[in-house]
Amino acid sequence: MLQVVDIACGMPKAELHLHIEGTLEPELAFALAARNGVKLPYPSVEALRAAYRFTDLQSFLDIYYAGASVLQTGQDFNDLALAYFRRAAADHVVHAEIFFDPQTHTARGVPFAVVLDGLTQAMRDAERELGVTSRLILCFLRHLAEADAFATLDEALPHLDRIHGFGLDSSERGHPPSKFERVFARCRALGLPCVAHAGEEGPPEYVWEALDLLQVKRIDHGVRALEDPRLVARLRAERVPLTVCPLSNVKLRVFSDMKQHNFKRLLDAGLAVTVNSDDPAYFGGYVNDNIRAVQDVLDLTVADWHRIARTGFEASFASDADKRRWVAALDAYVTAHGPA
Ligand code: ADE
Ligand code: ZN
Repeated sequence: MLQVVDIACGMPKAELHLHIEGTLEPELAFALAARNGVKLPYPSVEALRAAYRFTDLQSFLDIYYAGASVLQTGQDFNDLALAYFRRAAADHVVHAEIFFDPQTHTARGVPFAVVLDGLTQAMRDAERELGVTSRLILCFLRHLAEADAFATLDEALPHLDRIHGFGLDSSERGHPPSKFERVFARCRALGLPCVAHAGEEGPPEYVWEALDLLQVKRIDHGVRALEDPRLVARLRAERVPLTVCPLSNVKLRVFSDMKQHNFKRLLDAGLAVTVNSDDPAYFGGYVNDNIRAVQDVLDLTVADWHRIARTGFEASFASDADKRRWVAALDAYVTAHGPA
């Protein structure tokens, strides 16, 4: 008989919190470094992987931004994204909403259009070859100035037919959402949905700001929201989705180990939680690895996982028709496999 974890891993699902730069596996990093004549400061794939021991968000970001230096051509971005889509499809991801950090690349002289062309070519190929649909969310780096974000938005304007939303990521502490209130007002005026990382390392106040000042549709992470009962009540009442990334939270020491993670308490509080991989090449796995790690210690039911997967589809920025089709396929899958 199938175990709960096998049923959960087999469910069709959406991934809503995934940084494409965070899918750069060490093997591909070395291959791209060789192709582009870039020297990585590690002697081997094993040495690079061994360096993935983080003490907090910043210690990860330092390595993550350094790793991105091997990405130089449209083909590099295409190879990166297609490798992610293949891996995600193996985990039964049928729809992915992908973050990219253009400032990481334009600051190194890689043109915005080169990044975008490479990624969107892979998105088209993934839909055709794998049946995986996707959306692209442009993230502003919050450790940089508001003026830099406005300049990036200006660069994006000619390409809005291929950008489906805006986000906020990078070093959270000391960079509250309020710093980008005016940028996000302009993003919303363009008619595109916004999301923001908040309550990952930062306090619940940053989640309030993301909701009230940036008017986001989803909170990325949001695990620290549980420290504020009024905030929990608001998130529940408004059904604000939280894109939780359990392995990321443990790797970056938001929680000391998975047993301490508040995922089950978020779920039991009636919040709209989803499970995502964040930066899978750095944090020990893709979406099903996250499901396995959670199930290992938190012992959820098939009904819990069904609700989580349904929330993922409902919280996506896809059309209502697509959402209905995916939820129907999910319901049929659960009916066929039954509660364990
Ligand atoms: N960029 C990539 N991963 C991130 C994370 N977990 N938090 C903030 N910024 C990020
Ligand atoms: Zn993230």
